[in-house]
Amino acid sequence: MSSFARNQWYVAAYGREIGRELLGRTILNEPIAFYRTEESGEVVALADRCVHRRFPLSASRLDGDKVVCGYHGFTYDTTGTCVYVPGQKRIPRTARVSAYPVVEQDSFVWVWIGDPALADATTIPRAPHLADAENWTTVGGMEPIDGNYGLLVDNLMDLSHETYLHGGYIGTPEVAETPMTTEVDEGAGIVRVSRHMDDAACPPFYERSTGIRGRITRWQDIEYHAPCLYLLHSRIAPQGVLPNADGTDPDAFHVEITYAITPSTDNSVYDFWAVSRDFGHGDEEMSAFLHDFNREVVMQDVDALNLLQKTLDTEPEGYQELSINIDTGGLAARRILARLAAEGERSPAPAPAPAAAR
Ligand code: FES
Ligand SMILES: [Fe+2]
Repeated sequence: MSSFARNQWYVAAYGREIGRELLGRTILNEPIAFYRTEESGEVVALADRCVHRRFPLSASRLDGDKVVCGYHGFTYDTTGTCVYVPGQKRIPRTARVSAYPVVEQDSFVWVWIGDPALADATTIPRAPHLADAENWTTVGGMEPIDGNYGLLVDNLMDLSHETYLHGGYIGTPEVAETPMTTEVDEGAGIVRVSRHMDDAACPPFYERSTGIRGRITRWQDIEYHAPCLYLLHSRIAPQGVLPNADGTDPDAFHVEITYAITPSTDNSVYDFWAVSRDFGHGDEEMSAFLHDFNREVVMQDVDALNLLQKTLDTEPEGYQELSINIDTGGLAARRILARLAAEGERSPAPAPAPAAAR
């Protein structure tokens, strides 16, 4: 029942994951093989199925900037055009695989899923802190989840679950108790959910990284750019300490928590996560702590969503949900995603596959 939004940019990988080894990722049910060219280091993204007998190109090898199919040697250039077939001079005209538009930005590799003619790099939402090593120290990773993409969007849009699922890590009672405000920019496809806690317990995640002992003022400002990028601006300060009137905020600790939420198949999703801080630069021990601790938190979500998907799979079609105030942001996100999916379907589809291939 997949209804993903096509004609959109999605994060396929961190730039550091792609090199001179072929990497296979399935994005919106499309298998794609990624690699970097030898000289310019540009990222190439080709459909991950050889036209001959559909062997995965990601399990094949590179010859310079060309991909040589690991089964019978069909060879493709960076545009996906087949430039060699074994045993004959004539290369069939239809011997090509699709090449996907790719943009590398803010440490992510973004791939366009849909009609390549509509790809516009200026519409990719930004996460500049990820590539700003001078002001932000970032740790991160990616965890695959065996659950529908929508489950992860729901999960991230409502952080009340921190109190229950992540108690003792990042959750304290105040997160679930404090009401939040939700703002929706339908046109731009952005949902903002804010929760400002004036007087909260400091969870271990922040106690150990900031060194603050005692109560804190804790702000969580979510900015979700549908369909893929999720930013959580987190501000932590000793209780009562507020930003200066001119906007400067020297006595607070700022953490940018970034997620890229990329549908893989109907029931699997790539969960890219990163934690960027504006303090403790060069402190390797703190980086290791934040990486390992946050990964544990992410794995709590992964385990919960794997279980949730398994459970939903056993539910009868059309099961009922019951939504409350905390779900406002998640419901807004679902509405925007449904609109984007409908728009993606209406725009000109790629040429249909020949009937025999179906
Ligand atoms: S399957 Fe690729 S060359 Fe035969
Ligand atoms: Fe979570």
